[in-house]
Amino acid sequence: MVQPTRSVPSQTRPDRNLALELVRVTEAAALAAARLVGMGDKEAADQAAVDAMRLVLDTVPMDGVVVIGEGEKDEAPMLYNGERIGDGSPPQVDIAVDPLEGTTLTAKGMPSALSVIALSPRGTMFDPGPCVYMEKLAGAGDIADLLDLDTPLPDLLAAIAARRGVDIRDITAVVLDRPRHEDGVRQIREAGARVRFISDGDVSAALLAVSDRSPVDLLWGIGGTPEGVISAAALKCYGGALVGRLWPRDDDERRAAIEGGYDLERQLSKDELVRGDDCFFSATGVTDGDVLQGVRYQGAGAATTESIVMRSRTGTVRRVHARHDRAKLRMYAAERYG
Ligand code: FBP
Repeated sequence: MVQPTRSVPSQTRPDRNLALELVRVTEAAALAAARLVGMGDKEAADQAAVDAMRLVLDTVPMDGVVVIGEGEKDEAPMLYNGERIGDGSPPQVDIAVDPLEGTTLTAKGMPSALSVIALSPRGTMFDPGPCVYMEKLAGAGDIADLLDLDTPLPDLLAAIAARRGVDIRDITAVVLDRPRHEDGVRQIREAGARVRFISDGDVSAALLAVSDRSPVDLLWGIGGTPEGVISAAALKCYGGALVGRLWPRDDDERRAAIEGGYDLERQLSKDELVRGDDCFFSATGVTDGDVLQGVRYQGAGAATTESIVMRSRTGTVRRVHARHDRAKLRMYAAERYG
């Protein structure tokens, strides 16, 4: 006999997973940017990604506000901070976008460029204000309690090695290759640990630091604040820990931040950078990397993409492999991303 269906309280009922719609957004941006991989023009690659992302983002029913975008309205005609996106129907969300994370990587045909978007309920995303940079530490959940930006690096690395039961020489930190990191890199090496430099792309590096069987143990260093918020959204979905602290570049930025009410001493966890627990994330590879394969062309007819699509409330992490018909896409999207 068929049993009657029990009614399920609405808050426990599966609902719409916006991330499954967002994957089309990052795929479009990645496909558009990929046409410019290795062409030496990072602005053109970024613009192509922005245009394609905007085109598809308009098809997602939602009431969104860009919190992390391409910058101020005057400098960014699309996806500027404060821009309203969607048709105004629920849900009300904050949006963080980086249509092309790794513009130089793309222009130079180097690894690990991504297109990325994250959404969370309205009012839950940290607004970086005037601070362009943030100190960051990210690593897997087993070392979450150790991640403290005030712990001297040699002590932190020794504690991670002890926690993992390995020699400190087996610990690797991924670090953006920048002059501002010279002292930290020296400390890491003098402690006996290793450095894996990246030239750009610390969102991809944060994801690498928390992935299973990762070749790196932590991400350390000063990178973009917007990328810090986007990484926090990614790690809320994937698992792992991140702490960030605003890092003003000069006295003017420091003053502006203090006047804006920002606490420059405070270490912000991923749950303070993106509050609540209903955040959606999608990233698509533009160039091949450790975390995602980039756009690949199969003759003139097809292109393939790989994306990671996640939602924090359920913790589901999907890898989406897609094959795109370039001729049809060109007709469908007016040459924008075929
Ligand atoms: P793009 O703007 O070229 O995409 O740069 C990405 C990036 O490397 C981020 O991953 C990183 O957080 C930031 O730039 C570092 O900034 P800077 O290059 O100024 O040190």
